[in-house]
Amino acid sequence: MSAFLELFSAVPRQGPGLAKDVAWAVAQAGSEGALSVCDAGCGNGGDTAALLAAMPEAQVVACDKDATLLKAAGARHFGVPRLRVGTGDLAALEVLPEAPFDFIWCAGAIYFLGTVKGLRGFRKALKPGGVVAFSAPVYFSPPSPEARGFWMDVPVPDEAGLRAQVAEAGYELIADRPLSNAAWAALYAPLKEEISRRRAEGASAEMEGVMAAMEQEMALWARVKRETGYQLVVARLA
Ligand SMILES: C[S@@+](CC[C@H](N)C(=O)[O-])C[C@H]1O[C@@H](n2cnc3c(N)ncnc32)[C@H](O)[C@@H]1O
Repeated sequence: MSAFLELFSAVPRQGPGLAKDVAWAVAQAGSEGALSVCDAGCGNGGDTAALLAAMPEAQVVACDKDATLLKAAGARHFGVPRLRVGTGDLAALEVLPEAPFDFIWCAGAIYFLGTVKGLRGFRKALKPGGVVAFSAPVYFSPPSPEARGFWMDVPVPDEAGLRAQVAEAGYELIADRPLSNAAWAALYAPLKEEISRRRAEGASAEMEGVMAAMEQEMALWARVKRETGYQLVVARLA
């Protein structure tokens, strides 16, 4: 197992977010009843319990392509009713036995595919009128070089640009809003604690390198957080 995965599978989540973000997205969509739901790119299942709570009659499949994180998700949610945890590729959710879905939740993962490409692919896995809720990087203002560096100079849209991508992929926007600083703290505070704990116990050189890189990322985020972050988007298949 890589040091990166070892570190990240030991913290509650791998991207920013809160249970109340899940609840907000579900409320915006008006999703209720015996729905088929996918937690796509679930990591170690940081949002899975919130999804089950927000949709108390839904059947949920939590999937990821990473075996280490999935194992942690499976252990965390072992024996939970209405839930299956299993391997799944964001690029082919339609092959999952639970597809097609009424609701796809995809926190901090769609940009691995590219938002438009990812959303287009999700169309094959959604029922007519199905809803996707996802978080993706945006710039809130014209970005400084430091803010661009936070995303390693990968192209990131502004909020209007992300809305245009949603429309381009064939969805109608229901609602969007930025993830809060508290959502980022839900990622970074446990990570800081885990880093301190591992340093105190004595970490390998590889792990020290990963931890130092994460500390740099967290310090950088504190400097650029007014310029950039994640937008949470809820959209319906047009
Ligand atoms: C930043 S993490 C977010 C995890 C979780 N949703 C959360 O918010 O804590 C991104 C996740 O997407 C997963 N991922 C990336 N590409 C994927 C793909 N093609 N299929 C399935 N999962 C993928 C990664 O393994 C990782 O668990």
